[in-house]
Amino acid sequence: MRIYKTKDYEEMSQKAAQILAAQIITKPDCVLGLATGSSPIGLYQNLVKQYQAGDLDFSEVTSVNLDEYKGLAPDHEQSYRWFMNEHLFWHVNIDPSRTFVPNGREADSQKACDDYNKVMEQAGGADLQLLGIGNNGHIGFNEPGEVFVCDTHCVALTDSTIEANKRFFASEADVPRYAYTMGIRNIMQAKKILLIANGSAKAQALKDALYGPVTPHVPASILQLHADVVVVADEAALELIR
Ligand code: F6R
Repeated sequence: MRIYKTKDYEEMSQKAAQILAAQIITKPDCVLGLATGSSPIGLYQNLVKQYQAGDLDFSEVTSVNLDEYKGLAPDHEQSYRWFMNEHLFWHVNIDPSRTFVPNGREADSQKACDDYNKVMEQAGGADLQLLGIGNNGHIGFNEPGEVFVCDTHCVALTDSTIEANKRFFASEADVPRYAYTMGIRNIMQAKKILLIANGSAKAQALKDALYGPVTPHVPASILQLHADVVVVADEAALELIR
């Protein structure tokens, strides 16, 4: 595991974008596992800039997103499909038919998850999986629990995640209570993992994930068992790690 410490969010975003861009340049037909949330917004802005400057070509890239709120249609402004369109897909030459996000509109959870596992299988797993980390140590929407869940599944969001994500919605009551998420095996099958984190609110989760015991109570701790993890985090997120 390599850890890059950056001075702030901007530098974290630049560094992480360089790593992601290197993946696209070295393997133009790569499969990128992508994340949403506030952490990767600056990274996506950097990628869009590189594309606009003619330095990046997404035409052969396939993307698979980590998760989606159950019950939100792709044109809902808080859906993760919408987020990806707004922050990346609409601004680069990625083929929309090769961008995959779990289907939040599918009310049948089993079907939504089975369909997404098939997508993952057909894509052959991610070459690089981008991850943020929740304040409670979640990755994707794999919330702390008694076991690691392997494949795409439907989760009940924890109070802490609902609280953290309400900032994106008009009120807490509007935050969906369920989400579809890649499972831990889906994530761990990626050839390379890029974990980004910023801000002191992530410091404890990051410390527990990188240096604590490997336990489903801190889902990100499983990353200690992956052979190729790069962490790019700012000083505040790394403040509890010497
Ligand atoms: C988003 C995702 C989540 C976030 C995490 C951090 O697709 O899978 O695990 O990465 O909740 O969110 P932010 O970046 O908003 O702090």
